[in-house]
Amino acid sequence: MTFDVARVRSAFPSLESGVAHFDGPGGTQTPLSVGQAICKTMTGPLANQYTITEAERNAEAAVDNARSAMADLLGSTPEGIFFGRSMTQITFDIARTLAQDWGPGDEIVASRLDHDANVRPWVRYAQQSGATLRWIDFDPATGYLDVSDVEAVLTDRTKLVAITAASNLIGARPDIPAIAKAVHAVGGLLYVDGVHNTPHAVVDFKALGADFYGCSPYKFFGPHIGVMTASPALLETLHPDKLLPSTEHVPERFELGTLPYELLAGITAAVDFIADMVPGSGSRRERIIVSQTAADEHEHALNHRLREGLQAMENVTLYSNARLKTPTELFSLAGINSENIYKFLAERKVNAPAGNFYAIECSRHLGLGDDGAIRAGLAPYNTVEEIDRLLEGLAEATIKLK
Ligand SMILES: Cc1ncc(COP(=O)(O)O)c(C=O)c1O
Repeated sequence: MTFDVARVRSAFPSLESGVAHFDGPGGTQTPLSVGQAICKTMTGPLANQYTITEAERNAEAAVDNARSAMADLLGSTPEGIFFGRSMTQITFDIARTLAQDWGPGDEIVASRLDHDANVRPWVRYAQQSGATLRWIDFDPATGYLDVSDVEAVLTDRTKLVAITAASNLIGARPDIPAIAKAVHAVGGLLYVDGVHNTPHAVVDFKALGADFYGCSPYKFFGPHIGVMTASPALLETLHPDKLLPSTEHVPERFELGTLPYELLAGITAAVDFIADMVPGSGSRRERIIVSQTAADEHEHALNHRLREGLQAMENVTLYSNARLKTPTELFSLAGINSENIYKFLAERKVNAPAGNFYAIECSRHLGLGDDGAIRAGLAPYNTVEEIDRLLEGLAEATIKLK
């Protein structure tokens, strides 16, 4: 299994600029094939979904293909895939729907490791329904969130636990299958934010044991849209707000208004791109597993070099130290404002932004307040040369910005 980074890079027009992108956790660059699929669908014959005209059938195909593609990517079933404006919007919608059954005495659990998209909707609807909100903490020194940290807050009144499969700020990866077992043992539901995890792992939704798993294709070469998966049987039990004439079918019941067919075509192209990062044969799911495993190895080799470089710098504090993590590093340089380093690097065509990246509870729990720090996240298109440019830029910033 070889990972040909030059071949992968040649698919991305934006990389020709020479900018080293370590901003993938905020949104990756986009292959030409994804842009072309969006353009082709948008400018081809297109109408609302139905089966009489070619234009209607194109819309039908865009939806069906995207459900199949996401099911292949997540190890799920097409009938359990639905789309929304963003993971944030979907999470607010699901929280509002589930909260119809919550009341005083019920307990909702959120984690301080999470992006606010998987925190605030639960805080808001717990408050509104009169349920109690409980927090899971992680160890700020290591960034590790252990199953025992979850078990500590579970009771027989736990209705739902919301937790991330990987922190977008420090990369930490909790043990989701073990957490799912613990949550189900008390009769609760597990809502997993897979936005940062999905680009860096072979996802097997069924093996994870989560009840819901959400992600955002713009973090893995696709368009700006949200995707959720859950078992169709669970979705059948839920009744989101809907219009009178719109369908009661699952999963369409969860999709408000007309879907963005062109973006759905972009999702399919992004999944096909992932499956083809390492050319091969077999089903799309099989090719995804081979490609993502190879991309993961590539990213981790680069991450090793980056961490060694950062650890060798005396003025660097690294906050991303969990045993199990994605190749995403959060760090600061002693005595230098992170935003200034971000600008300094950007002037040298190295994009490594600074901030809390909406993981505001996590940033505060790490002792970084709302300012966060510098985040360098790796993507399959990154190279050794780019890692070295980042490290050189930081060494230069240490001298010039002091
Ligand atoms: C871990 C994580 N969860 C959720 C979100 C929100 O995703 P969306 O922009 O699709 O609402 C992000 C976005 O950065 C994220 O990184």
